[in-house]
Amino acid sequence: MKFRYVGIIAMLSMLSMTACAAGTDKSAAKAADNAKPEVVAEIKKVEAVSEKVVVAAAETPATPEAAAAPAVGADGFALPVQKKKSTAPEIKPLASDKSPHDVATDAAKGTLKNPYSYTTMNPDLVEAGKRKYMGVSCNGCHGGNGGGGMCPPLSNETWVYGADDDTLFRLVALGSDELMKQGYTRKGRENVVGPMPAHGKLVKTEDDLWRIIYFIRGNFRGEAKNIKW
Ligand code: HEC
Repeated sequence: MKFRYVGIIAMLSMLSMTACAAGTDKSAAKAADNAKPEVVAEIKKVEAVSEKVVVAAAETPATPEAAAAPAVGADGFALPVQKKKSTAPEIKPLASDKSPHDVATDAAKGTLKNPYSYTTMNPDLVEAGKRKYMGVSCNGCHGGNGGGGMCPPLSNETWVYGADDDTLFRLVALGSDELMKQGYTRKGRENVVGPMPAHGKLVKTEDDLWRIIYFIRGNFRGEAKNIKW
């Protein structure tokens, strides 16, 4: 007996489910039928415009990679950008694995120099530096591309204590207060002024910090003739 009831209840609920589904279909169809002609025309217009946009996006690839793959999938949504595999992990470290704090306190004034050459910038190394920069949250204050945020931009031509490698390395490793104690002085002024906290122990190695500075170099947005490093 019990089973029969359960069976009936199940059947009833299935029936009511299909009824609900049919109901919504019907009401949707009804709504479409009832839609005012202007509204329908407006919807069609919007559809036509978005189709045009999709076509335009598909026809004008921004990059050679985009030309290879369609920018928009069959569902009409933009395809995710496929990242090229970076060769950065294969770049041999040129600097030590000592902490930047120790390096900055031990080295004589003016002697620190990035071992990675800026003559021809390696985009993979810039990317690797950026990852480290984000990894220790420099972007929280300076923005993701070093363009400034709450704190001074790292991409413009103003350098608060100087633009050279030695100064930047110490500023990041020791922080601005300690840097001034080492005899470095404020030369420039950005719109935002405040102390730069020491990162010489947060950034794990000397090599990591040079890579971060390499990223800052690669991200410079000023005029080439004003490069002083
Ligand atoms: C808590 C916020 C904060 C964080 C986090 C921070 N900074 Fe700074 N940074 C500052 C401030 C403030 C200054 C300006 C110091 C001054 O005016 O004396 C500054 C200055 C600098 C400058 C000099 C900019 C110029 O225009 O001369 C560099 C380079 C720099 N920071 C790099 C970094 C890097 C790299 C990191 C991550 C390892 C980092 N900062 C993390 C606040 C921060």
